[in-house]
Amino acid sequence: MSAPDRYAVIGHPVSHSRSPFIHERFAKQTSQKLQYTTIDATPARFATVVTEFFAGGGKGLNVTVPHKQAAVALAQDLTPRAARAGAVNTLSLREDGSLVGDNTDGAGLARDLLNNLGITIAGRSVLLLGAGGAARGVVAPLLGLKPRELTIANRTPAKAVELARLFADMGDVRGCGYPGLRNEPKDLVINATAASLKQQLPPLPPGIVDTRSVCYDMAYGREDTVFLRWAQERGCTRTAMGLGMLVEQAAESFFGWRGIRPDTASVLAALKVELARES
Ligand code: ATR
Repeated sequence: MSAPDRYAVIGHPVSHSRSPFIHERFAKQTSQKLQYTTIDATPARFATVVTEFFAGGGKGLNVTVPHKQAAVALAQDLTPRAARAGAVNTLSLREDGSLVGDNTDGAGLARDLLNNLGITIAGRSVLLLGAGGAARGVVAPLLGLKPRELTIANRTPAKAVELARLFADMGDVRGCGYPGLRNEPKDLVINATAASLKQQLPPLPPGIVDTRSVCYDMAYGREDTVFLRWAQERGCTRTAMGLGMLVEQAAESFFGWRGIRPDTASVLAALKVELARES
């Protein structure tokens, strides 16, 4: 009997990751024989650990915080969406032994917002918090949904300005620091910073959300993140964590690896039950 194909998610920290839960269920649902684990690697060890994983027979990696930009340099080829984002969340081994880097984050976020949550982006004002690897992956797909305007705010303002410049051909997009934000409500605020992982909150002006705003945190956990609680305290009733995005981007990676598109709704429901059971 042949050994199952090996996959993993690599990050730092990574023990909180729900990707093994998701991919194990996708595999069962589609009768695919595979093993999916977590790998913790510091930035200094990232390249070595990735090389060892594939040299040892691994077939594919999901790449998470803080390695998404570093992963670009490890791929011999990039899909157009990964090249455009300058960030990779999926590495796959090809027959000839080379690695291809893809970015399924944006497709995952767009599917979650539109299909799972029923949120309209067209014509709306959108604020994206953060300009790291997570944010880079979603700028093009968000602009593809034709918001009226997209503002990118980051702790290091120059990174937000640069990111906005890279996508200026796709729509009305501007970058700034948090003090540069206009203190007026946005229709949709998406937190793509790593702040939630550290129970921190970016320094947001209080007026950027109101009762009509939708607030989305790409981070997820058993309880609402600091950012979502902050929004709720300001009257925001429509808040969501990135669980749906996580499942949707995973499905897109799984499709790239196995050629089969799994059903996401049942796995998202199972994940919610699991998180509720743990809390
Ligand atoms: P990821 O791949 O998750 O984006 P990253 O590339 O390390 O990880 O980027 C982390 C992002 O979170 C950055 O936008 C970072 O801001 P800086 O560019 O100024 O470093 C942001 N971030 C991290 N901690 C934060 C905090 N406490 N408040 C605000 N932003 C924070």
